[in-house]
Amino acid sequence: MLSYLHSFHAGNFADVLKHSISVHILDYLTQKPKVLFYLDTHSGTGGFSLQHAEAQKNQEYQNGIGKLWALKSSQNLPGLVKNYLDLVAEFNSSDTLTHYPGSPWFAQQILREHDRGSLFELHPREFKSLSANFADDRRFKTFQADGFHACLSQLPPKEKRGYILMDPPYEVKQDYQTAVNSLIAAHKKFSTGTYALWYPVVERYRINDMEKAFIKSGVRNIQLFELGIQKEGEKGMTSSGMIVINPPWTLKAAVENALPFLAEHLAPDVAHYRVVQLVNE
Ligand SMILES: C[S@@+](CC[C@H](N)C(=O)[O-])C[C@H]1O[C@@H](n2cnc3c(N)ncnc32)[C@H](O)[C@@H]1O
Repeated sequence: MLSYLHSFHAGNFADVLKHSISVHILDYLTQKPKVLFYLDTHSGTGGFSLQHAEAQKNQEYQNGIGKLWALKSSQNLPGLVKNYLDLVAEFNSSDTLTHYPGSPWFAQQILREHDRGSLFELHPREFKSLSANFADDRRFKTFQADGFHACLSQLPPKEKRGYILMDPPYEVKQDYQTAVNSLIAAHKKFSTGTYALWYPVVERYRINDMEKAFIKSGVRNIQLFELGIQKEGEKGMTSSGMIVINPPWTLKAAVENALPFLAEHLAPDVAHYRVVQLVNE
């Protein structure tokens, strides 16, 4: 089943958390001069017009980037939020929010000349846009293939340093289990890589099961970050989170510093968040 299109959801509150964490990880990993490999298992197209009919249908960006855009020049933004907003602003040609970048675009800005990226996307229409968007950047290769298997076919990378982002659509419930299995198998092949898995909270027990599976897996050094903008149990996606294996040592403090700000600006009085060290180092 391939009916999910990220253009309906681009820039929503889930993208804000996902992309601000991803930007922090990439910024950290590119501080060292050594070459870095980036693997995006579910890339989408790399960029979205918020004026397009698909984004306009439910205007989900209004519960995410739409709430932060006016604050982008504020003093005293949490560092994690500032670095993310600066990049979103760079993606827009004027002071009006019209476009929103996708995960591979953020990586494209942060990776250096000698770094390398592999971008996987299965949907034919989305893959066509993705491959056109990255055709002129020789650092990146695009593949129309299953991202869950990409983790295994591409790892370990020859660079021996890597960041793997897994951002499945979860349109089939099996994705919750497949994502965990795929990351555990990937970690067996490349145990020093940094991995981030995005998840939506629609039915809490599915996330509890994921957490238990990671805890049981033997994989060490796992952190979880979650932000909700609706009360748990209400209809649809109430929260979303990122599970990060081998996070930069700076990540936890940076997210802890950003979450109260994001909560206050995205959903004052209702927002809730969690930071959990799921497995110790
Ligand atoms: C949540 S979206 C990705 C958004 C993107 N990571 C971003 O942050 O801009 C999930 C994407 O995965 C694609 N997809 C679905 N199943 C896939 C699979 N098995 N392998 C690779 N891509 C898949 C969908 O077409 C969709 O574009």
